[in-house]
Amino acid sequence: MLVFVPPHPLIKHWVSVLRNEQTPSPIFRNAMAELGRLLIYEASRDWLPMVTGEIQSPMGVASVEFIDPREPVAIIPILRAGLALAEHASSILPATKTYHLGISRDEETLQPTIYLNKLPDTFPEGSRVLVVDPMLATGGTIVASLELIKERGVENQQIKVISAVAAPPALQKLSEKFPGLHVYTGIIDPTVNDKGFIVPGLGDAGDRSFG
Ligand code: PRP
Repeated sequence: MLVFVPPHPLIKHWVSVLRNEQTPSPIFRNAMAELGRLLIYEASRDWLPMVTGEIQSPMGVASVEFIDPREPVAIIPILRAGLALAEHASSILPATKTYHLGISRDEETLQPTIYLNKLPDTFPEGSRVLVVDPMLATGGTIVASLELIKERGVENQQIKVISAVAAPPALQKLSEKFPGLHVYTGIIDPTVNDKGFIVPGLGDAGDRSFG
């Protein structure tokens, strides 16, 4: 498994805005959306299938490359907080399909419960899949999500996970269970506390985004 923390000043900036407990909800949500846009931009580098051709510009014939619209790309936001991080995804990646997964973590046991599953029975052949969830804490939620996605015919190498903050327990589980996976995160934090929150982290991303 590969974990990328793109060394970009804008990524550092938006992570810092998210961390600040004084950041009000609308600005928090906007910061999350901006961070998601930048991380998805980085994750799509050298990943999207291209189609080449020639086009007539006003001044002559040019060789051109476009993203191949025939190759399926799926965005999977993990509700609720993933909705904020994925907000600009479709403006970066043309011709994507969005499949929602609703998963909540029990506050006591920290076990994930799937309450909404809009995944297809099988993903189209060759699908590239972006799974978007701001927090990778104990890892229960992202592991449950990836198991559902893999059951539907997607290989680890075809999946990229986008997160704002990742912690060692989640990264450890992902690397054991999903070799070949790529994770793009704004930052890696050192610990998860006994309530399942990343420390220092940014608090409860769902509550801070949506109240
Ligand atoms: C949070 C967060 C992740 C999950 C991470 O969601 O957005 O989905 O917890 O925790 P884990 O790695 O320990 O499983 P939450 O259950 O609070 O739902 P929400 O997004 O609706 O607030």
